[in-house]
Amino acid sequence: MSPNDPQTQRRDTEPTAGYSSVPMWLIVLLGLFFYWGLMYLNDNAGGFNALVYAPFQNFEQVDAVQPKDENQIAMLKGKRVFDSTCALCHQPNGLGDPSKAPPLVGSEWVLAPKPDRIIRVVLDGLQGPVSVKNQQFNLAMASWKTSFKDDEIAGVLSYIRHTWGNNAPMVKPEQVKEIREKTKARTQAWTAPELQAVADK
Ligand code: HEC
Repeated sequence: MSPNDPQTQRRDTEPTAGYSSVPMWLIVLLGLFFYWGLMYLNDNAGGFNALVYAPFQNFEQVDAVQPKDENQIAMLKGKRVFDSTCALCHQPNGLGDPSKAPPLVGSEWVLAPKPDRIIRVVLDGLQGPVSVKNQQFNLAMASWKTSFKDDEIAGVLSYIRHTWGNNAPMVKPEQVKEIREKTKARTQAWTAPELQAVADK
């Protein structure tokens, strides 16, 4: 190894600062982190809008007033389904409209002790002559069994049984599940006489 050997020379020189290119994988990795960070904020930061928590200051305060009781949760779910779907015909006040749908307020169908008939109505629909509060209707309601899950149907029925002064027992998702299973072969809307053969007490 002579002093003139290029390797020896290199070892002896002072270290100097220089530039070397950043590896591509690092740039890609940082890009991915940045993207992930943005998505995280997008999902969790409430759009940076202070009103998301208002009038509360933090999550604990919001959590403290959130409904925990399962009946309350079912009613909220039910109201959502009612407002977005059923209210179109039965009206937001539940009083119905002679050309669209019968009333739900004070309806003997809605207030029956057992919800076995109205669960069927929402699952497969109802058509033909029907009497509600001594008024005659002869219209048709569509089937909702593919639109709503058991808990949503239980929720909306609990909602119409507990709103506008109506007061009848809550409907449980298990009750909807059982009747869905029992009537799963059905492809047509129910008629009032068919439903009257189903016990409601
Ligand atoms: C497109 C209009 C329409 C929509 C939407 C609708 N219904 Fe009906 N509903 C009717 C009609 C019409 C009847 C009566 C059918 C007949 O004349 O045979 C009826 C009947 C009923 C009845 C039995 C009679 C009564 O008034 O008590 C119940 C209960 C009921 N609907 C609940 C619901 C629920 C819950 C929803 C939402 C999931 C809903 N309906 C959505 C039109 C509708």
